[in-house]
Amino acid sequence: MYTIPIILGSTREGRLSSRVATFIERKLRATGRVNPEILDLEQLALPMLEERLRFLKDPPASVVRFGSAIAASDAFVIVSPEYSGSYPGVLKNAIDYLQAEYKRKPVGIVTVSGGNFGGISALAQLRLLALTIGAYPIPSGFPVSRVGESFAEDGTATDASYEKRADGWIGELLWLTEAVADKQAKDVAGLVA
Ligand SMILES: Cc1cc2nc3c(=O)[nH]c(=O)nc-3n(C[C@H](O)[C@H](O)[C@H](O)COP(=O)(O)O)c2cc1C
Repeated sequence: MYTIPIILGSTREGRLSSRVATFIERKLRATGRVNPEILDLEQLALPMLEERLRFLKDPPASVVRFGSAIAASDAFVIVSPEYSGSYPGVLKNAIDYLQAEYKRKPVGIVTVSGGNFGGISALAQLRLLALTIGAYPIPSGFPVSRVGESFAEDGTATDASYEKRADGWIGELLWLTEAVADKQAKDVAGLVA
């Protein structure tokens, strides 16, 4: 089983990206190969960063929880709305708390827009961010357009094409997750041999 948390980067009152996070969580769980968990930045309410987690003497419980979840992960997913042609500041604030926890972790990027373009500007920038923090973004993005019409409140895809797209995208995420996990297991076996 792979541990794959989903960082939900929308904290807006009345947000819609949570629908997509719920959908992805359900699809990951349905593979039978993944323990998914939504790390909801609205619920976590991480304080504005004053220092990275590893340098904090008395870190807030929410930051420790976020850090532990990413540290224990085999891969992670980011679900981000597109705001002003980019990803939200609250998401960057969360990402900046950690460093080594992301290294060599596959990351799947899901971007959400109320309009027609699926948040592809945010997707491009999140790929760069992922590379900068030492994670491995999978080549395919998962852009969601017209989220209000495409997903119901309970996370059901009302536009059925998202089911098929998600299957392919999750297949790619799990392919890379397995490859990296196998390599890491070999490295560990080499260390103890
Ligand atoms: C501050 C702000 C800026 C936004 N900028 C964009 C944008 O640049 N491109 C876009 O497609 N949608 C933009 N939107 C609309 C979002 O795509 C829309 O709110 C969508 O439902 C996903 O975000 P949510 O999780 O906040 O609902 C913006 C919304 C807000 C609140």
